[in-house]
Amino acid sequence: MSNHYLVTGALGCIGAWVVRHLVHRGDTPIVFDLGTDARRIRDLLDDDEFERVQFVHGDITDLDATRRAVEASKAKAIVHLAGLQVPFCRQDPALGARVNVLGTIHMFEAALAAGVQRICYASSAAVFGPGEDDDVAPDETAACEPVTHYGVYKRANEGTARVYWLDKKLPSVGLRPLTVYGVGRDRGMTSGPTTAMKAAVLGKPFQIGFTGSTDFNYVADTAAMFVACADAAPANGPDGAFVYNLHGDTVDTAAIVAAIERAHPDAKGLITAAGPHLPIPPQLDGRAIHAAYPGLPHTALDAGIRATVRRFVELRDAGRLDVSDLPTN
Ligand SMILES: NC(=O)c1ccc[n+]([C@@H]2O[C@H](COP(=O)([O-])OP(=O)(O)OC[C@H]3O[C@@H](n4cnc5c(N)ncnc54)[C@H](O)[C@@H]3O)[C@@H](O)[C@H]2O)c1
Repeated sequence: MSNHYLVTGALGCIGAWVVRHLVHRGDTPIVFDLGTDARRIRDLLDDDEFERVQFVHGDITDLDATRRAVEASKAKAIVHLAGLQVPFCRQDPALGARVNVLGTIHMFEAALAAGVQRICYASSAAVFGPGEDDDVAPDETAACEPVTHYGVYKRANEGTARVYWLDKKLPSVGLRPLTVYGVGRDRGMTSGPTTAMKAAVLGKPFQIGFTGSTDFNYVADTAAMFVACADAAPANGPDGAFVYNLHGDTVDTAAIVAAIERAHPDAKGLITAAGPHLPIPPQLDGRAIHAAYPGLPHTALDAGIRATVRRFVELRDAGRLDVSDLPTN
């Protein structure tokens, strides 16, 4: 059987880690992305590993191009991550819908035409609104009342996936991460904590633009979850179209600042946080995915921050640390 995986949006943060996960276990990732800058993947792979990645430049809003790429990839499964994040959807809702909603329909169409076995796609915790009680962690049965265009589009995609199962028996899993952090996380509403880790190793002041608690998912864990769900049906029942919340560690921004200072003591006093709470629940109930896919990893927050800071230091010392997400003044 093919060990090829088409990974859309793989030049982005989570995608780069999915590529790394696949390469490390001997599989072949085919990157399908509108961008051309592979730096996030390069930051995670050595030269020999990088050689094993295939690249297709393409736009998921173009159905024919998407079909051709999926067909040519001979992929057994698709990890679909291409999308525009909260600020970009807010800025241009029509483009956001074309990429996030129409693009997802194109992936399902292309997968059907090419006989792909399974799709694992990125939904988001933003399908939930802020909720009335921060102490209640919603599970997958909780009502979804998104308060951003992005959240509405992600919720629409979950419905799309369900209908492709009902109508065409194409199995899928949608994952709902919240605040993903780690090397490569440099854009989106919740990228501030990772940018703060980068600022810390550069000895620069940085303010995280939100306060309150949020649910931190270490990107290596998130990537492993996408691949596990692209590989197989849930272990605890028949196949179908599933959606799972991801839960990592829920802490507030003050605790994140303290953890960054523990990981890089020279940064004491440089990192601060100010701004509103996120318009998403601070914590998701993430138990269902662990029942369906036993053995998924969970990296503790301190360990994930230490690993991220360590890699940023290596990249800094090699003169390769991208600083485009840091303020210029
Ligand atoms: N990072 C998080 O905390 C988080 C949380 C919840 C959900 N998600 C979702 O997970 C997915 C991946 O997130 P990320 O942080 O890696 O995002 P990212 O912004 O780093 O990467 C997205 C990638 O999609 C590509 N892309 C955009 N438009 C495209 C198009 N029309 N055709 C092809 N490629 C296109 C971009 O070039 C980019 O490489 C996204 O769908 C995002 O909404 C992320």
